[in-house]
Amino acid sequence: MKIFILFFLLFFYTSNLFAAESSTKSLPQHEWSFEGITGTFDRGALQRGYQVYSEVCSGCHSMKLLYYRDLIDIGFSEDQVKAIASEFTVIDGPNDEGEMFERDARPADRFVSPYLNDNEARANNNGAYPPDLSVITKAKKDGANYIYNLLLGYKDPPADMEVGEGMYYNIYMAGNQIAMPQPIYDESVDYADGTNNSAEQLAEDLVVFLTWAAEPELEVRKNLGIKVILFFIILGFIIFLAKNRLWREVH
Ligand code: HEC
Repeated sequence: MKIFILFFLLFFYTSNLFAAESSTKSLPQHEWSFEGITGTFDRGALQRGYQVYSEVCSGCHSMKLLYYRDLIDIGFSEDQVKAIASEFTVIDGPNDEGEMFERDARPADRFVSPYLNDNEARANNNGAYPPDLSVITKAKKDGANYIYNLLLGYKDPPADMEVGEGMYYNIYMAGNQIAMPQPIYDESVDYADGTNNSAEQLAEDLVVFLTWAAEPELEVRKNLGIKVILFFIILGFIIFLAKNRLWREVH
């Protein structure tokens, strides 16, 4: 028993040590609807999150793994998706004359990237590269909480700190300096459904959308998990009854 207590204490002691080592602030944990074994995505939040991505982040960040038709999964109708896609232009071809041509995007196209290539992306962002956001919530440690806090983590730098040229102070970025200007403010996006558009709400909806993008099968996975657990509970009960019945005569 003592040895267990010792291990327990050691574990907490070392985990606290690691926490103290990091220079950035530890991440406050937000409550997400997609967490826990019954987690689901709220369709309203997903659609609002897409709106924030498309109006704000898509100016600098691509989401190359998504197709416009994927938006049907989050509750947009086929006609809405056609309309969304048609606002973008893709380069297609070659045609019969061997030339590339431009056309409106269709639902079967991937999300159009803001820049033609990585060099153009860097050239437009002070040399920094805005990462693709398709799987960003999985690429970063504790991704959902990290991105939520990062978006809300722009503060005035302390007096004794010099922030580099073209850099911004952010309490959650490693080293506290980030090349991304603060993207979200209160009311920077207007929601059609009248949902309050505080910076916190915009960031929350956006992170729900990014989490779905990185793991669209989350709901199916969690749903299956519950069914499997229920199955084993019922199976266990039946085996228990069967065992009692079989061994009833033996004393
Ligand atoms: C004006 C262009 C611009 C806009 C708009 C923008 N970003 Fe960025 N973003 C950047 C750049 C540049 C970087 C790279 C920063 C760096 O490496 O210091 C970046 C980095 C990031 C990172 C990675 C941070 C890390 O830990 O390395 C995330 C996550 C991110 N952006 C999310 C978003 C989201 C979400 C939005 C929309 C709300 C958004 N960005 C809007 C330019 C932008």
